[in-house]
Amino acid sequence: MLAVAILAAGKGTRMKSDIPKVLQPLAGKTLLERVISTAKVLNPDRQLVIVGYGKELVQESITEPGIEFVEQLQQLGTGHAIQQLLVPLKEFEGELVVLTGDTPLLRAETLQNLVQAHQERQASATVLTALLPDPKGYGRVFCDGQNRIECIIEHRDCTNAQRQNRRVSAGVYCFNWQMLAEALPKLTTNNDQQEYYLTEVFNYLPLVYALDIPDYEESLGINDRKQLSHAYDVLQNRLRQKWMEEGVTMLCPESITLEDDVVLAPNVVLEPQTHLRGKTYVGANSRIGPNTLIENSRIGSDCGVNYSVVVDSSIGNSCRIGPFAHLRGQSMVGDQCRIGNFVELKNAKTGDRTNAAHLSYLGDVTLGSRVNIGAGTLTANYDGFQKHQTIIQDRTKTGCHSVFIAPVTIGMNCNIAAGTIVDQNVPDNSLVIGRVRPEIKQNYYDDEGKKQK
Ligand code: UD1
Ligand code: CA
Repeated sequence: MLAVAILAAGKGTRMKSDIPKVLQPLAGKTLLERVISTAKVLNPDRQLVIVGYGKELVQESITEPGIEFVEQLQQLGTGHAIQQLLVPLKEFEGELVVLTGDTPLLRAETLQNLVQAHQERQASATVLTALLPDPKGYGRVFCDGQNRIECIIEHRDCTNAQRQNRRVSAGVYCFNWQMLAEALPKLTTNNDQQEYYLTEVFNYLPLVYALDIPDYEESLGINDRKQLSHAYDVLQNRLRQKWMEEGVTMLCPESITLEDDVVLAPNVVLEPQTHLRGKTYVGANSRIGPNTLIENSRIGSDCGVNYSVVVDSSIGNSCRIGPFAHLRGQSMVGDQCRIGNFVELKNAKTGDRTNAAHLSYLGDVTLGSRVNIGAGTLTANYDGFQKHQTIIQDRTKTGCHSVFIAPVTIGMNCNIAAGTIVDQNVPDNSLVIGRVRPEIKQNYYDDEGKKQK
């Protein structure tokens, strides 16, 4: 049997935030969500999260089923946190993997290696360790010649000589639970912080091995905002490298940001200052950016999107979007469409080859195929109480500065003259003109521009 316990009860004082540290967001997921999703690879029989500070918030943030929450009423240290498992794991037999909720860069393979190495050596505990260029703040790991841990001493309890040791504990361990359960009651508070340190158990356990993580960045813990932002850089580098290896071109990659659930087809080109978030897909040969944000959206293949914002929407193949377009609210654009300068689409559906190239608001609309939306076309979709639909069918053209007062349906092959306000349904093949003819008063001014008597 295998159980996983995640330490998530601390406040994270160094973060200087009211929200619990493990709920800090990092590229679209909280630190804790990242750790939970990494631990999933172990397929554990039990998953326990130790909560304390802001426990309601922490519990609410977890949607994953099958997690048991264990409360640590007072945060008296990492050892005290694990002592809280003595009751819920009373009958448990097997291995306990302990993770800290503030180590979000750990890879799933590394956890698998930890458990495998632990089982092969039949150790009482195995600790993930790393050689850090700057080990300040971490517990230092002292081993014998055979990689067996003699002790772990926290940075603040180390002598200057001990601090020269750059081998640190990542705070991730695999324990033989029965042996740990026997050692836990022995913990003391004989240290600089007068807390119960989990690392003290290694003084009481025989045969504890260290397992070095080759990529030390995986072991980085997040205690303050500088470390949070460094972790963001590490994640971004990983994501960019992964997609470049899959055949994506990135221009000025350090200006591009991605999230875990972004999927990119080969030959996509990302230009500078492109930000792809949430569940976003970009199809083959599409060129995104410069200066574009796409969130929870699907872009087809052979598209160009520049200087635009696309949120919760989908775009077909071979479309040109932007510059300065804003698509949102479940908009769905067909194939070979053009949505251009200063056009906002909200809950708008279009057929294929439909264009809205300039200065429009199209909210709650259904456009057919080959519709042409003239510059300055607006939908009046809101009557102050409710939103209403505008339907404009195939091959209809709307003139500049036309307004559609929803709910309204315009048939196929219609032509709406410039400046027309449409407040009633229009049958197919109609010309619609509704505008005040200007009055022209000739010779109203003299040649100097003065009003004539
Ligand atoms: C800890 C380790 C250190 C290791 C480092 C790796 C101890 C004593 N130190 O130090 O050896 O190098 O992690 O990142 O274990 N927590 C609780 N209850 C508590 C105290 C803490 O749940 O009473 C949780 C925190 O929410 C956090 C985790 O335990 O997720 C680690 O606590 P933190 O204070 O960040 O420990 P470090 O000083 O980083
Ligand atoms: Ca920490």
